[in-house]
Amino acid sequence: MRAAVCPTYGPPEVVEIQEIPSPPIGPGQALVRVEAAAINFPDTLLISNQYQMPAPLPFVPGSEFAGEVAEISDGVTNVAVGDRVFGSTFVGAFAEEVVVAATVLTRIPDGVEARHAAAFGVAHRTAYHVLRSLAAVQPGEELIVLGAGGGVGLAAVQLGVALGATVTAVASGAERLATAKAQGATRFVDDTAGDLRQALKDTLPHGGDVVVDMVGGALSEPALRCLRWGGRFVTIGYASGEIPRIPLNLVLLKGVHILGFQFRDFAANSPDFERNEREILELLAAHRIEPHIGATFPLDQAAAALRYVADGRAIGKVIIDVASG
Ligand SMILES: NC(=O)c1ccc[n+]([C@@H]2O[C@H](COP(=O)([O-])OP(=O)(O)OC[C@H]3O[C@@H](n4cnc5c(N)ncnc54)[C@H](OP(=O)(O)O)[C@@H]3O)[C@@H](O)[C@H]2O)c1
Repeated sequence: MRAAVCPTYGPPEVVEIQEIPSPPIGPGQALVRVEAAAINFPDTLLISNQYQMPAPLPFVPGSEFAGEVAEISDGVTNVAVGDRVFGSTFVGAFAEEVVVAATVLTRIPDGVEARHAAAFGVAHRTAYHVLRSLAAVQPGEELIVLGAGGGVGLAAVQLGVALGATVTAVASGAERLATAKAQGATRFVDDTAGDLRQALKDTLPHGGDVVVDMVGGALSEPALRCLRWGGRFVTIGYASGEIPRIPLNLVLLKGVHILGFQFRDFAANSPDFERNEREILELLAAHRIEPHIGATFPLDQAAAALRYVADGRAIGKVIIDVASG
């Protein structure tokens, strides 16, 4: 099969297309013929060996995919050969075939394209768990989304609207804000345009109820300051590369709740997890949500796709169209 292979740690350009044997299938596993895969920022970190957990060389990067089940091992009952499925894995998705534990696979709802299913697994599920359970967003509340042009950010905009919130998108530049508007945001702040604290004050004179923060750095404190008394602030990631330090007196004076979200811990520990997963799949199946795909690359341009994401050029999700080569 053809696969994008990382033969040595380095920049995205080390990734090359190779013909390699199909991955062997073991107990409890399924082999999926990949139609589309989606890039997540950690994929670029794995390639440069900057991720918290290293991937042993050589490896096929790629953590999100959608396609068709081509083979299952004995005893697998949750999926069958021929099912259209999506799922996530640590590595292996930027290839014509991927082998995973069958339990990580979910059937793609009828009428949903493979590329949308591939793009949905990490960003939308993260945003939904955060909004539904941690922030417990209520209809009519003011939700502020930092990094609103990113994968999780645009998903949070879309899902915040679906939950009945009024969404303020904070993003860098007009194109990203226009995309957030198309996803339902109604208030806009360009975080590259100067004094963010003042801009948020002008946009939300009565303050916000919830901030979701995928960016960190210089955005976090001004956003926290714009919460009204009793607001909720959820820290999800640090795409800016900088972990912010927040003066604790702000938390005391404003009575805000600062919450942290980590997908694997939430999945393992929260009693809400299964309910949320069911609800978000229903939203996808009903076409009430659809991931925004900002760019698509064929498999043989996997390195260029990874470079695009590493350089922060992506708006929404970036797809590798494996079926088209
Ligand atoms: N805790 C969890 O379980 C979990 C789950 C999923 C993701 N995450 C983390 O959440 C963060 C966002 O993920 P994502 O998939 O949405 O990433 P993404 O699509 O690359 O978006 C990141 C956004 O961050 C903003 N940003 C600001 N400075 C940046 C910089 N120097 N480089 C890149 N982006 C910068 C950009 O916002 P603008 O639109 O304003 O330009 C960009 O759109 C990542 O750190 C990821 O690891 C955490």
